[in-house]
Amino acid sequence: MTLPLAILASGSGTNLESIARRIEQGLLDARINLVLSNRPGTRGLERAEGMGLPARVEDHKAYPDRASHEEAVIAAIREHGAEAVVLAGYMRLVSRDFVQAFSGQVLNIHPSLLPGFRGAHAQRDAAEYGVRLSGATVHFVDEHMDHGPVIIQAAVPASPEDDGDSLAGRILALEHRIYPQAVQWLAQGRLRVRQGRVYLDDAPQPVAEESPGGPCLISPGLERGF
Ligand code: GRF
Repeated sequence: MTLPLAILASGSGTNLESIARRIEQGLLDARINLVLSNRPGTRGLERAEGMGLPARVEDHKAYPDRASHEEAVIAAIREHGAEAVVLAGYMRLVSRDFVQAFSGQVLNIHPSLLPGFRGAHAQRDAAEYGVRLSGATVHFVDEHMDHGPVIIQAAVPASPEDDGDSLAGRILALEHRIYPQAVQWLAQGRLRVRQGRVYLDDAPQPVAEESPGGPCLISPGLERGF
């Protein structure tokens, strides 16, 4: 089945583009019925228009309150027949009603290894903290910010020389790989959530990386003898 998507983006839209490209390549069983931005004139809207995708602005500043803006966004998504909602740099909190309106088929990507470093400045906050590993998380959305059952995470090494921008670039390259993958699993109906855990195919999943110390990615690398 081809999953009809609405992609909500407030900014530059590189994740939106990575998903659209995977669809074009035939790797993702989805179609983008709507790209919606809460801000006019964004690079994301330009990208959508450049790729011939239906794009629409619902400017939150044009509404008296959060609830009425969200109602308009829900109506737009329904009007376009989207069944799943992909938040890709959408800088608005969504409510429980929003999540329920799309039967839990709402995904988000966040540029940190959740639950660390929630919020709008995750990469900068992580770099300032001096983390040695960071990454990105795709998760089902609940009514809390950057919160909900985790679908996939990718880790990248970080160094003391990193700042928010350098870390963000490294993380973004991985975002463009894990988000289309997560959307494809959703489209294939392979994700199940039980007690806050996400299962793929209801089967034990191998981790991507193995190291001598166990199934994890360690940075900096362990020295001999450890
Ligand atoms: C990404 O880093 C994403 O994780 C975060 O916002 C950024 C959006 O980038 N939620 P783009 O608009 O997809 O280029």
